[in-house]
Amino acid sequence: MKQLIQVRVKAVCADPLKLKTDILAIGLFEQKKLAGLAAEIDRRGGGAISALIRLGDFTGKVKTSALLYTQNKLPAKRLLLVGLGEKNKADIDTLRTAAAMSADKAVELGACDIVVCIGGDIDSKKRPEQIARALTEGLCFGAYRYDEYLTDGDSQKPRPTVLKAVIADNSAAFISGAKKGIATGLITGSAQNLARTLANRPANVITPQSLAAEGKAIARNFKGLRCSVMDEKKLAVKKMGGILAVGKGSANKPRLIIIEYRPSKITSKTPVVGLVGKAITFDSGGISIKPSEGMQDMKFDKSGGIAVMAAMSAIAKLKPKIRVLGIVPAAENMPSGGSYRPGDIITTYSGKTVEIHSTDAEGRMLLCDAIAFAEELGCGTIVDIATLTGACVVALGKKRAGLMGNDAKLIEQLKDASQQTGERLWHLPCDDEFVEAMKSKIADLKNTGGKWGGACTAAAFLSRFVKKAKWAHVDMAGVGVWGEEKGQTPGSVGFGVRLLTEFVMAQR
Ligand code: BES
Ligand code: ZN
Ligand code: MN
Repeated sequence: MKQLIQVRVKAVCADPLKLKTDILAIGLFEQKKLAGLAAEIDRRGGGAISALIRLGDFTGKVKTSALLYTQNKLPAKRLLLVGLGEKNKADIDTLRTAAAMSADKAVELGACDIVVCIGGDIDSKKRPEQIARALTEGLCFGAYRYDEYLTDGDSQKPRPTVLKAVIADNSAAFISGAKKGIATGLITGSAQNLARTLANRPANVITPQSLAAEGKAIARNFKGLRCSVMDEKKLAVKKMGGILAVGKGSANKPRLIIIEYRPSKITSKTPVVGLVGKAITFDSGGISIKPSEGMQDMKFDKSGGIAVMAAMSAIAKLKPKIRVLGIVPAAENMPSGGSYRPGDIITTYSGKTVEIHSTDAEGRMLLCDAIAFAEELGCGTIVDIATLTGACVVALGKKRAGLMGNDAKLIEQLKDASQQTGERLWHLPCDDEFVEAMKSKIADLKNTGGKWGGACTAAAFLSRFVKKAKWAHVDMAGVGVWGEEKGQTPGSVGFGVRLLTEFVMAQR
């Protein structure tokens, strides 16, 4: 199997035009007149950039780029112009995306090194650290390829195994701030790519059991973490009825994966944050089976759990002062003679009973056990993340995840984190009026809430399993995966890893 492309990033205080490199990537806004670095290159290159712009071949729009060959007029072999869009609309995520495009191009061209000069002048209020972190995360993102199952016999172009990136700037002050940002960006960027690989692996490779083994591996590889796993026998002893019910139909038995981070100093007042993630390694729908079209994408139904596991790896390196518990219930939702059925009444870990109306509303059945367990373990704050409902995709589309919860301050904290990381959220309601649709005459709740507002009813279902904790829920059903659209690496985007990490690091 191929290894991931390793991305190395360093900050260099130098004139970017003097650096020898395979690609010099520079960011350009949609602007009438070339300025700064671009103007200087244009002058040396006999007007090559302005010619491109004049012909309309490059406008500076976001997500566009143009490649030029420098013909020995610069030490760089190639010049890549990357669009940053309108200057007043650009934010830190614009830089991240531009860096991702640059790294993507570099890998596509088989280049081994790249110098990026993107957005140093974007907004003087943004700190160099923040900019360099975003650029580094973007570089990691764009260089990523999921090709571990492509064998050498396939007629593919060879790709580099290491991409060496340099963030170059003339200003010593910028470079000294950038160094810290690069260090953080490499941690979060690699964690995100780890999540992408685990999520991209198919369901015959990632089962609840092998995902648990990955949890153990993370705890081994990242100092400061401990991982424990409950197998189906332990889950039965603990009466985790929800997780067990969902896992019953599969030969691959369910697991509850717990990854703990402890800071070096702990007192009885040290806050405990619980990150809970849905890991359905494959969601066929179970007895309430899904249509076959698109079912292959249900291998991504483990993405929330994986986001939690990968975030824990970043948290171990960034060392917050609080305790963090990553709690990942993992199961495979399959139809068989052993499956749970519509009509079954399940006693969940909390003691509450649930009448099953659709075995395809399985996520909430696992999460309700994991959330109740997190609170029992002492988590005062719980954030869960899950590919929970198609209804959330209908409501918000594929660019924003749903955000629900029971605490206004926690919602604001998650929005703040989202602002930093560019993983966009939209607050939706989940108050008690949504619970009405889930009343059952023969159990405490039904597991479905009718036709309307499915993202909100699913969240309202979860809210019933929270006692005193501050709780928030991220429904990432629409945002975790990229399709085959032009210019995108298809598959998992590792949504939530940066968000959860940022959220935890901002806690105190
Ligand atoms: N994993 C799905 C939700 C999903 C749908 C994720 C599309 C990503 C893309 C979830 O388990 C599910 O099947 N939800 C049902 C709930 C319904 C039966 C109440 C849904 O959304 O249709
Ligand atoms: Zn599901
Ligand atoms: Mn389902």
